[in-house]
Amino acid sequence: ILPSQASFSPSNGRLSGEQVNRAVRRLKDLRGLFADEAAFLAMDPEQIVYEVHAHDACGPVEGGLFFGVSTLFPGKVGQEYFMTKGHIHERRNRGEYYWGIEGRGALVTMNERREATVAVIEPGSLHYVPGNTAHRIANTGNVPLVVGACWPADAGHDYDAIAERGFPVRIVEENGAPVVRNREDERD
Ligand code: PA5
Ligand code: NI
Repeated sequence: ILPSQASFSPSNGRLSGEQVNRAVRRLKDLRGLFADEAAFLAMDPEQIVYEVHAHDACGPVEGGLFFGVSTLFPGKVGQEYFMTKGHIHERRNRGEYYWGIEGRGALVTMNERREATVAVIEPGSLHYVPGNTAHRIANTGNVPLVVGACWPADAGHDYDAIAERGFPVRIVEENGAPVVRNREDERD
């Protein structure tokens, strides 16, 4: 009987172990994504927005699976909630499961026709992101949003395809509550 390769905390979902990769994204890595550029520039560029811990021991092989836990800290740039960069899979037809562990947020998806969906993420929520669908999460609460994910090891992350035009909606605070704003309604 072998010891487990890694473990995740049943209380906060964090992954630990020798085969766990950790990536940190800071505000400076998210330049150009938020609507309020002035608010962005007034903030500390070194501030950590999210961390991703991934168990990717098999490498990017066809048929393999990766398992990850993202922790997205609470915060806003102007009225817009902290969010991940967002991506579509390099191998476009690869899907992914997400599930809510801690905190509250939104899963924003966009299909190839640029049609968006927004789903509430909360502890216990389960989300299937189909292939050919870009995805991003936002933290709409006051505590870290912790989200689990499992995806095909050969999916890859394409950020550039999304960076060009972005998602068609933003998740912003209005009167103290999260709302979905259509970017077409923006006057910038
Ligand atoms: O594979 C996924 O979709 C997640 O693990 C994300 O990579 C993670 O949430 C970070 O988001 P992004 O890769 O868009 O920076
Ligand atoms: Ni993904």
